[in-house]
Amino acid sequence: MEHNNITVSVVGSGYVGTTTAALLANIGIKTFAIDIDENKIAKLKSGKAPFFEAGLDALVAQGIASGNLIPTTSYQQAIPNSNIVMSSVGTPDNPDGSPNLDFVFSALDSIASFAKPELIYVQKSTVPVGTGQQIIDHFKTKNSSSKFSYVSAPEFLREGSAVIDSIIPDRIVVGGQNPDVNMQIADIFMTVFEQYKNIAGIAQIACPDSAQKPTIFNMNLESAELTKVTANAFLALKISFANSIAVLADTTGADVVEVMDAVGADNRIGRAFLNAGRGYGGGCFPKDVSGLISSADRYHVDMSIMSAATKINNSMSDYVVSRLTELVDDNDLKDKKIAVLGLAFKAGTSDVRKSPGIKIANKLAELEAQVSAYDPEANHEAQDDLDSKISLHNNYREALKSATAVIIATDWAEFSKISASEFSELMTGKIIFDAVNMLDPKDFSDMVYQGVGRK
Ligand code: UGA
Repeated sequence: MEHNNITVSVVGSGYVGTTTAALLANIGIKTFAIDIDENKIAKLKSGKAPFFEAGLDALVAQGIASGNLIPTTSYQQAIPNSNIVMSSVGTPDNPDGSPNLDFVFSALDSIASFAKPELIYVQKSTVPVGTGQQIIDHFKTKNSSSKFSYVSAPEFLREGSAVIDSIIPDRIVVGGQNPDVNMQIADIFMTVFEQYKNIAGIAQIACPDSAQKPTIFNMNLESAELTKVTANAFLALKISFANSIAVLADTTGADVVEVMDAVGADNRIGRAFLNAGRGYGGGCFPKDVSGLISSADRYHVDMSIMSAATKINNSMSDYVVSRLTELVDDNDLKDKKIAVLGLAFKAGTSDVRKSPGIKIANKLAELEAQVSAYDPEANHEAQDDLDSKISLHNNYREALKSATAVIIATDWAEFSKISASEFSELMTGKIIFDAVNMLDPKDFSDMVYQGVGRK
């Protein structure tokens, strides 16, 4: 399908917004990337993404070179020329766990004052069910345009694999009051899929020779909103379930990886997101789970299943630290040198939001251990969140030097390449605490290997 005659504004240049804008520009759509942060816009103008994400710099550079990607801080420049606006501003959580929609509504106000009469307003940010209707009502008070349409088109990309997830999605979800308008938006994302090989080539990322066409789910507004949070909440639930079983495995001698390999082989269950470890972090799962709980509270619906998942998740970093304490001399971490490898909330990103690695490092520092930490991408981002007594290092060798124990807290491939003999040479102790269950215990038979739910 041709999209030559449309212009899109993508508001918010975070992971979702930047990826979306770069992809649209690369399928030939004139795309404004709007952000109020001048630094982000300057970075985009220079042909780079404002953060580390594999393949994205190349897509931004190509978008800028083609003239299709136009970064700007000016709503006035972009919105009057746009047929479609995609909103992907941040929705951080309030102290009570509910999502803070201030950015969503302030962007909406800026957009409403410049909007074309037939604007299609697409929501890509994760918002609680019911928000779309509030936005429709609010927009009408600011701009009485009778043809305004609203579509919820939730995003399922993961940080670290944002480009590949977006060009080969499992499904395209669109929800709104007019199924034909929903389909216009789904068509744009289907065009991205149809051109996935070309885009992967520009991004210089690996992609399969053939891929299953994503199914389009065209639904009502509230269903689309609820689909997004439900997907994230279910994945979080799987992780917390795996972690509960891991604790039981630790106390009974079972190996949670063996258990989950066998359980996950059941097609009805699936192996994905059953990896036990130090729990989930990041800008999405913790926030979306608490957002779902707060939506349920608002409508007096029992969502204690998700409160339990949160409670288990919050306990996992303490669990890791207490298991480590059992392994060190005198069961006391005070003055012991402990290396923490991995501060990003997962591999492939420099994002440290709600990072379990940081939580573990700070907990160790609180117990007066001497903590030396290292992350291949996130040292800089982690600095402000780390206890000032923690030393940060530029490589794992320095961090491991003379350590009694090491905790691996992020599943970076770099860490799986460290051999048992290299650990032994660098460290004075022998304790390898694999808090992401990424190593093969058999490779560490001369060391003291401890995973979460496995020895
Ligand atoms: C998540 C979802 O996977 C995406 O589909 C969704 O679009 C995104 O949130 C969002 O709402 O924007 P993301 O937060 O980037 O993506 O990261 P995930 O790969 O899902 O990992 C989340 C956390 O769970 C990480 O800390 C990871 O280490 C942890 N995890 C994941 C586990 O502890 N065990 C697992 O088996 C899988």
